[in-house]
Amino acid sequence: MTVATSSDAYKTLKTKIETNQARVGVIGLGYVGLPLAHALHQGGLPVMGFDVDEEKPKAIREGRNYLKHLGSDMVTTLRDSKRFEATTDFARLGECDVILVCVPTPLGRHQEPDISYILQTADAIGKTLRKGQLIVLESTTYPGTTREDMMPAVFKAAGARAKDWVLGEDIFAAFSPEREDPGRKSHSTSTIPKLVGGVGKQATELAAAVYRKGIKEVIEVSSAEIAESAKLLENIFRAVNIALVNELKTTLTPMGIDVWEVIRAAGTKPFGFMSFFPGPGLGGHCIPIDPFYLTWKAKEFGCSTKFIELAGEINTSMPHYAIDRAAELLNNHGKAMKGSKVLVLGLAYKADIDDVRESPSFELIQLLEDRGARADYSDPLVPETWAGRKHDLQKKSVALTAASLASYDLVVVSTAHSAFDWNMIAKNSKLILDTRDAMRAHHTALGDRLMLA
Ligand SMILES: NC(=O)c1ccc[n+]([C@@H]2O[C@H](COP(=O)([O-])OP(=O)(O)OC[C@H]3O[C@@H](n4cnc5c(N)ncnc54)[C@H](O)[C@@H]3O)[C@@H](O)[C@H]2O)c1
Repeated sequence: MTVATSSDAYKTLKTKIETNQARVGVIGLGYVGLPLAHALHQGGLPVMGFDVDEEKPKAIREGRNYLKHLGSDMVTTLRDSKRFEATTDFARLGECDVILVCVPTPLGRHQEPDISYILQTADAIGKTLRKGQLIVLESTTYPGTTREDMMPAVFKAAGARAKDWVLGEDIFAAFSPEREDPGRKSHSTSTIPKLVGGVGKQATELAAAVYRKGIKEVIEVSSAEIAESAKLLENIFRAVNIALVNELKTTLTPMGIDVWEVIRAAGTKPFGFMSFFPGPGLGGHCIPIDPFYLTWKAKEFGCSTKFIELAGEINTSMPHYAIDRAAELLNNHGKAMKGSKVLVLGLAYKADIDDVRESPSFELIQLLEDRGARADYSDPLVPETWAGRKHDLQKKSVALTAASLASYDLVVVSTAHSAFDWNMIAKNSKLILDTRDAMRAHHTALGDRLMLA
């Protein structure tokens, strides 16, 4: 594949983008794709949403909001617009001038990257590929995926039709990492600066022009690989720093030193320090998963990623640490873990969202049950569990009342949802293990009934 410097296809698409004539297809209407489709639609572009899960286009057509943290206006705005439609008919990808790929990139059973969703999507795009289309990958992945995996799969599916088309001249490709942080109120898709790196300069410019329609700040970088690697650096930075404070927690706690107070104290330094807080383990679609995409790719080059592996080791040991502390707390009060009734507060992986992907709460419940405790959970945002990659708990959320709290030997705070009534929890729980520093205001009242973990 050769990369050219200028072409008619570039000029045509550029004009279409500038005049809001370029139709944007967003593949994967999940946490990333739905707000992105909305932001570009708000910027004036016609948008089509594609998903293999027919429930999502259907929900949008019916004005049903399926991602609560985004608010219901997003879905109804799209439903009511003549410039938006959602479909499961991938044959219609040919109608789009720009295609943004926002499909999952999970890990396989042996912690290896699973880019099968990207490849399936590439196959669908290839089948209707036409000259002048721009394809942008948003899914987090290892460097080289856009150029070496996705685009060859697109061309392969296009077959003889595309045999003379040149990447960067007739067809354009770029990578632009999503930086969503579901539940964060201070930023939205349109205000989070966006990186764009193309396979060739023209692709970078075209992709940047598309995003500038709906996103305030777009930063062009020199290649797709720079953009792919920058996203990994952002997530590895978090994973490593969380591991660092988790290690400090397990080191300072036996010394009788409160790690949360230490971090807040260090956080008063106005430069050169950024606060990260410990917890019961890592959760979400990104931080526990993405670093291992680089670890895997590094092996191809004979490199080892010691920092990433060590951070992974420390972070995955955190649920075990928390459960050891739970046993210690019960023991201090003359109770054995075996046979105890334990309530885990919060099933979502972080506060005020309903996303349970990779949530450490599942691991906590599993470990409690492995040690003979009877564990339940309470989460106002997650009424019941369903089968996930690792766990199938088949449990329903317990309603939080004074009586229900009092019926448990131990309450474990795993996710600090703002909907939780901490006063009621402090007043009615027999024992509390706090992995989130949610009970600070109640330390004195709780005394030795509380333990930090
Ligand atoms: N959620 C986040 O906060 C976040 C942040 C940054 C980056 N990312 C990355 O963005 C990507 C998407 O994550 P997400 O959180 O939006 O996932 P998600 O599971 O919420 O959404 C993915 C959507 O893609 C659909 N899908 C799956 N296979 C498909 C296919 N072959 N064709 C079309 N649609 C398909 C699913 O039905 C789903 O609706 C991942 O690579 C993730 O790592 C996510």
